[in-house]
Amino acid sequence: MSGQRTAVVTGGASGIGRGCAFRLAEESYRVAVVDIDEAGGRQVAARIREGGGEAFFLEADIGEPDAFEAVVSAVSARWGALHVMVNNAGLDYHEPLPEMTVAAWDRCVAVDLRSAAFAAQAASEIMERSGGGSIINIASVMAWYTFPGYSAYTASKAGLIGLTKTLSLELGPKGIRVNAIAPGFIDTGAWERVLADLDDPARFAASVSALHPLGRRGKPADIAAAAAFLAGEDASFITGHTLVVDGGLTAQLRTPA
Ligand SMILES: NC(=O)c1ccc[n+]([C@@H]2O[C@H](COP(=O)([O-])OP(=O)(O)OC[C@H]3O[C@@H](n4cnc5c(N)ncnc54)[C@H](O)[C@@H]3O)[C@@H](O)[C@H]2O)c1
Repeated sequence: MSGQRTAVVTGGASGIGRGCAFRLAEESYRVAVVDIDEAGGRQVAARIREGGGEAFFLEADIGEPDAFEAVVSAVSARWGALHVMVNNAGLDYHEPLPEMTVAAWDRCVAVDLRSAAFAAQAASEIMERSGGGSIINIASVMAWYTFPGYSAYTASKAGLIGLTKTLSLELGPKGIRVNAIAPGFIDTGAWERVLADLDDPARFAASVSALHPLGRRGKPADIAAAAAFLAGEDASFITGHTLVVDGGLTAQLRTPA
């Protein structure tokens, strides 16, 4: 790859996506921040520019089928190349089985799974022309271990891991690597929303931390570090892989009390 590397981060306005945008900018990538949250996305891009980096915000709903054509053309028009795409934006829809609706199920699958397929479709040509690339899909440990009510989310994240493998086969010959990251509990806006619904959030937060052999929940920077690794040359022989980044959460069986 030659010249300054460029990256797209979806859901870059907050949480894990914001962490990835900042980390890639620190590593001298030009970053396109894609989100439905215009104010948050503009703030992230502005902060990168204030730090001497290059970034711009693009408002797009990645659940819409043609979103990525627009994203890729905007990046192509501005920078002429694309090397890294972090498919991070996600929707943690959950509803007990009797309340599940077709519309909500379809929306969850469109945002959490379908989007990554069409992101890859839209990005592959420019990535190949750019000398190769790296696509990183943000899945979840909930692809394997889940809670009641999370059927659409879990099916989407499990599907994303399968999709990552298929795409790695199709895009490998073009010099494009495709990997996924499966985060555990990470402190983001999504986590704050979980806490907001509880009577005793401090107790719950402490008990979740205690589930981790490392004794803490994750931070967006923990996932961003894994994304930066998968994006870069040190991962040049890694494709079709899902990297679990969960502080050991899913390594253990629990003994009944
Ligand atoms: N936080 C966790 O514990 C955790 C764990 C495992 C996986 N994940 C996954 O990580 C990803 C990011 O989650 P987060 O915790 O940072 O969430 P978050 O809510 O903090 O941020 C999500 C961002 O995505 C944007 N977004 C949502 N729908 C969008 C759409 N249709 N189009 C464009 N942008 C959209 C939101 O505006 C927001 O800025 C998600 O895919 C989530 O499933 C999170």
